[in-house]
Amino acid sequence: MKIRRCAVLFLEPREEVGFDLQELLNGGDGLRRERRWVALAPHLGEEVEVDADERELLGVLSPSQWIDASTLAAPPPAALQRLLGEGLLIGDDKRHAAHRACDEALRAAYWHPLAATLHAFTRWSGVDAVQNMKDSGTETAVQMREVLGAPPVEAARRVDAPSQLKLPRIAATGFDQLLARRVTCRNFDPARALPFELFAQVMQRVFAAQAEVRVSEDTVFLKKNVPSGGGLHPIECYLIVQNVEDVAPGLYHYQAVEHALEPLPLPESLRGMTLAAVASGASEVAGERELASADAPGAAETMAVGTGNAVAATAAEPAAVVADAANDAHKAAVVVMAGADGRNASEAEAFAGEGSAPAPDRSAGPSTEGGRRGDVTASPDHAAPIAASALRQFIQDMVAQQHWFADAHVVVVLAPRFDRTFWKYRQHAKGYRVVALEAGHLSQTLYLAATDAGLGAFITGAINEKELERAFGLDHVNQGALAICGFGWRGEAMVTAELDPRAEVWRAG
Ligand SMILES: Cc1cc2nc3c(=O)[nH]c(=O)nc-3n(C[C@H](O)[C@H](O)[C@H](O)COP(=O)(O)O)c2cc1C
Repeated sequence: MKIRRCAVLFLEPREEVGFDLQELLNGGDGLRRERRWVALAPHLGEEVEVDADERELLGVLSPSQWIDASTLAAPPPAALQRLLGEGLLIGDDKRHAAHRACDEALRAAYWHPLAATLHAFTRWSGVDAVQNMKDSGTETAVQMREVLGAPPVEAARRVDAPSQLKLPRIAATGFDQLLARRVTCRNFDPARALPFELFAQVMQRVFAAQAEVRVSEDTVFLKKNVPSGGGLHPIECYLIVQNVEDVAPGLYHYQAVEHALEPLPLPESLRGMTLAAVASGASEVAGERELASADAPGAAETMAVGTGNAVAATAAEPAAVVADAANDAHKAAVVVMAGADGRNASEAEAFAGEGSAPAPDRSAGPSTEGGRRGDVTASPDHAAPIAASALRQFIQDMVAQQHWFADAHVVVVLAPRFDRTFWKYRQHAKGYRVVALEAGHLSQTLYLAATDAGLGAFITGAINEKELERAFGLDHVNQGALAICGFGWRGEAMVTAELDPRAEVWRAG
């Protein structure tokens, strides 16, 4: 067997510090300090602890040159076998094909080694950011000040006031008013469906290709409403549609050239959550309801199935598939979304104050009343039903338990195809930064497009990437999740605080 070292590897001498009563009783500072060596290899995405022999062997082997394992000068066999098993060393035989494929994928994607490592090892799984804030006592700005001390000054000054060149303040135009109404939304209205056209309008303005520039048969650049490093527009848009008229709730990929939704299979986790919701007494089971007939009472509430909606009609075998889905869904008991899961949170990410403002000013946007969502509907790929409560929980899990985003009508996962940007910026020190900056442009454009439509929008970087990758069939090397945005109707009352000090969105009094 031939072997070589994996392409990218960093070794960290890590120290962990924990409380130790015995240490304190012995007259020390009460802290136990333990050091170990951790191998960070981004093609694996999980860290591996290594011992001294293994560290030594990793330093000896080339990442670019294959050598026969038997030619190694006195290799410690245990170390060799373990490193091969963990995927830090790559073997050319069948047994090591899986790790070899991951390593080759990383090589082929032209990541900068540090960026690949940063991205791979800052992904979350199962993180509850809300609980973490509670545990650290930093839920509000007042608490943050108490626990963390004063922050660095809110805006830097480099000279005294007399030395400043003061700029004129402009008279506000409609554009200023639009900007002023851009407030991160943490209160969505689950009772009001988003009209299909309004959903399409926001998607078109923010994420759609506006033109194509064909350089050759296989090389096309897109023009979009946001800037993009190298004009490559690597960021794909994956959707969790929760509450849009005529769109079956579930997971989609947005095709930016065709301005179309591509239904995706129901993830295992969501399937399991639906079964649990149906089976458990936690959700109220209301009995079966006819899902297939648009004429049946309650059909408007049960959404897309069998009502000739645009998405269902694009499936490969629409009629048969929709009928199957309707049958599947019909078999399932209908779960009434309890809507009372203890949601009375007043905390928000960054600032103080329990929110309790009256209704937002909706005058800016069209007011289309949607029906309350049905509870179990067919998934977009028509393979299985989805319980509304399960989909809501699924979203909450993806945004690290930030329940204030869980009612968003549309959730947008920004997932760059890193290999597209790194095709030009090969192992480039700035490549990853360029991609991350682009997510910000998309987010701001989404905020403005949503605000213009009378909707609220948000972005969060507090996401459980590993669960997102599993759910959408992504991977952190070629295409992984970077951030989550969302948009939809604002709720009637501000339950979770928003930063609206000038009452631009939430009318005072
Ligand atoms: C990159 C980024 C990440 C953010 N992450 C979160 C988040 O995890 N949770 C949240 O509630 N808000 C999040 N926000 C929203 C900020 O808290 C918000 O922009 C800030 O408080 C200012 O409020 P405004 O957007 O209403 O002006 C994020 C904003 C940005 C730009």
